[in-house]
Amino acid sequence: MCGIVGYIGNQKAKEILINGLKSLEYRGYDSAGIATIENNKIDMVKEKGRVANLEASPEIGKLTGTIGIAHTRWATHGKPSKENSHPHMDNSNTFAVVHNGIIENYADLRKFLTDNGYSFISQTDTEVVPNLVHYYFSNDKSENTLNKFLTAVRKAVSDLKGSYALEIISSLFPDVIIVVRKDSPLVIGKGNGENFIASDIPAVLRYTKDFYLLDDNEFAVIYKDKINFYDSSLEPHNKEIKNIEWDASSAEKDGYEDYMLKEINEQPTAIRETIGSRFRLGEPCSFDDIDITKSYLESLNKIFIVACGTAMHAGLVGKAIIEKLCRIPTEVDIASEFRYRDPIIDEKTLCIFVSQSGETADTLAALRLSKSKGAKTLAVSNVIGSTITREADYTIYTHAGPEIAVASTKAYTSQVCLLAILGIYFAELLGSYPKVKLEELKSDILDLPSKIESVLDNTEKIKEFADKVYTQKDMFFLGRGTDYDVALEGSLKLKEISYIHSEAYAAGELKHGPIALIENGVTVIGIITNEKLVEKTISNLQEVITRGAKTFIITNQVLPNNNFSYCLNIPATNELISPILSVIPLQLLSYYISKNKGLDVDKPRNLAKSVTVE
Ligand code: F6R
Repeated sequence: MCGIVGYIGNQKAKEILINGLKSLEYRGYDSAGIATIENNKIDMVKEKGRVANLEASPEIGKLTGTIGIAHTRWATHGKPSKENSHPHMDNSNTFAVVHNGIIENYADLRKFLTDNGYSFISQTDTEVVPNLVHYYFSNDKSENTLNKFLTAVRKAVSDLKGSYALEIISSLFPDVIIVVRKDSPLVIGKGNGENFIASDIPAVLRYTKDFYLLDDNEFAVIYKDKINFYDSSLEPHNKEIKNIEWDASSAEKDGYEDYMLKEINEQPTAIRETIGSRFRLGEPCSFDDIDITKSYLESLNKIFIVACGTAMHAGLVGKAIIEKLCRIPTEVDIASEFRYRDPIIDEKTLCIFVSQSGETADTLAALRLSKSKGAKTLAVSNVIGSTITREADYTIYTHAGPEIAVASTKAYTSQVCLLAILGIYFAELLGSYPKVKLEELKSDILDLPSKIESVLDNTEKIKEFADKVYTQKDMFFLGRGTDYDVALEGSLKLKEISYIHSEAYAAGELKHGPIALIENGVTVIGIITNEKLVEKTISNLQEVITRGAKTFIITNQVLPNNNFSYCLNIPATNELISPILSVIPLQLLSYYISKNKGLDVDKPRNLAKSVTVE
């Protein structure tokens, strides 16, 4: 939610900031703005809408400074507009601020500042910040030093309740950018005679691979040739730099029309990388990064898997895998529900948090709650150094590479794959599942990349089906077992990028109500990959065909003669991991329906990729 970028060096800041904003647009895209400093004056340009509007602004030429901050917004307080877009300045135009997060007590702070003679231009929560900095700075009657600036920022920040990643510049100090964060991401890229700031690493990966990952309540004063770090009391300290191995091109479109299509096609590589060296046939799985023991697993009475959206759907498959292989009761919960429902957790509970971004506010809150109740916490994430990974007791990473499209694809399949490997690892420690069967499952996992490639070979067939159904108003997705988990994910994907209403049902549940919605011409997508459930699901599909539905079947089974409208065969694999293959036609179907409707696939309306607010 909201992306921020910063630059300080010898180049014109504007180009670098715009490039950074473009790659952060997935975090929000209803308005954008930049402020730079030149001749001890802050120049600012803001526009409603996409970063492209900002780039095309007639005013953009006035930004000539070599130090600047920038922002792309996902509106929380105040509608999308030029006034509400960032940066925001204080009343004297001395301080400019960009902010990602939410200031929960902004109304009180606004009243306090108004009572002290300040006025406001926007409806945002953020505008209190530059004015608070000004308030503390101007009430300090000492000489104007950098320390006075930093102290004013610290005092302002200590008044804030909520979450923030902040970049602050001042016309009085044109050689520095001050940054601080709490519960919102911020990284600093170290260059040679120049430094970069961003909400995530890919935004500035083309300029540097050396990053500092700012901690909560940590301040940094960034010059072009040095960076000083301070704790929450402004005590200076040294900080470890991390070299990031991602290839810069992995954050670019690489010739694809959209990031989503690129990321769908990257799934063979993402799965290969996620498997990595975690196992070889005939050898036990190893997770160097976690020291979970057999006796700890034996002591557990429950595992929770907690996540949001697509990550939660991956968790549903994880539950099926862990329960089957380990026989440990496993519950899946939506993080926003879990955190407020007083879940039964103690030291005998292992809580697994699945989050591509590692920044989702509800998932983070659920993690903190679980820790406070004595549970051990394990994060499954794709983003190194993200907040959730830093707070969890253990972290295991999917190695899907940066996922830029708002709709998650390769992160989902990598999460399912990693949860499967984790399930095998637990089962090997516990001795809870026949060794020979675990070896078969490992072999099936190793075969996934080539099987995904053969599913992708069917892209044209799926596109043809999309051409036929893209004008539909409603669609239904049916499946049983892990096929139902995939139905939920297929339905979410369709809703979010094609704006077609859809519902996913456990196939056997249909006749308990929703079948009333089936009428002539409605499209029903059936997923059938579990041999034991083939006949049951087919019976449910016949019920909808009888009522006039058109059916599109994704299966790895040999189906008896039938009257389905379309049938797509995918390679056979163990039913526990079949979602990794069966979801791909559904991802492609949503993608081509969205393209047919002329929509922005990568940036669907009202959505942002990283949901760092409740
Ligand atoms: C849907 C999608 C979202 C995310 C959800 C959790 O395509 O991407 O439903 O899965 O917002 O995000 P993370 O995994 O970053 O916690």
